[in-house]
Amino acid sequence: MDVLVVGGHGKIALQLLGLLAARGDRARGLIRKPEQAADLEAVGAVPVLGDLEADASLEPYVKGADAVVFAAGAGPGSGDARKATVDLGGAVKLTDAAKALGVRRYVMISSIGAQDPGAATGSMVPYLKAKADADRYLIDSGLDWTIIRPGGLTDEPGTGRVRLTTDLGGRASVPRADVAAVLAEALLVPSTIGVVAELFTGDVPIGDAVRALR
Ligand SMILES: NC(=O)c1ccc[n+]([C@@H]2O[C@H](COP(=O)([O-])OP(=O)(O)OC[C@H]3O[C@@H](n4cnc5c(N)ncnc54)[C@H](OP(=O)(O)O)[C@@H]3O)[C@@H](O)[C@H]2O)c1
Repeated sequence: MDVLVVGGHGKIALQLLGLLAARGDRARGLIRKPEQAADLEAVGAVPVLGDLEADASLEPYVKGADAVVFAAGAGPGSGDARKATVDLGGAVKLTDAAKALGVRRYVMISSIGAQDPGAATGSMVPYLKAKADADRYLIDSGLDWTIIRPGGLTDEPGTGRVRLTTDLGGRASVPRADVAAVLAEALLVPSTIGVVAELFTGDVPIGDAVRALR
């Protein structure tokens, strides 16, 4: 499978690219800084140079993919403008490119809280609104989407065990390594298409948790 991971140098993305490459997929990561290319190559991935904000279309990068993953983010220090151009605009551009090229499979990293951005405070409001709008745009696209909404991300080692639930409104944390493993698994499991699920650390092995999603 050829998978394009957008936000390819992100902390989840690099781990996901490594998992994909290790199982024999063509793991391509979109990055905007050439100096990050070596880190992708080190995990067996193919760096693709492009910019979610500056490029009018992502079609040149999506071309040839069997699936795309949105793993980019403007980051906690960013202002409202970049939440609009990255967290929302980048995800929308990826949806448009996938749709135009007939690349049906799209896995989105969203966030807990996106089901009700109005309940948040401070800079979380525009962030969660951008995530919610990006999710809605993808849902309305008719593509074969899966939306994963992790809780607070940590850099702890993965446990291989998670809680994945379509019962939205939870609050807990999850290691980025386990998020990457869930995304890699979801790409293989068609029953995750059309599912919005929150993801936390838990006690169910990742393969079982992903296969149980409906
Ligand atoms: N932090 C949390 O607790 C939390 C909770 C739930 C969900 N999330 C979401 O989880 C996702 C991944 O998180 P993470 O910690 O792995 O992310 P991360 O390490 O912050 O990586 C985000 C990546 O997006 C890239 N990016 C930003 N603007 C770009 C542009 N214009 N063109 C191309 N790439 C661009 C960044 O590249 P540069 O190096 O070029 O800036 C960076 O590599 C994000 O969508 C985030 O919103 C986070």
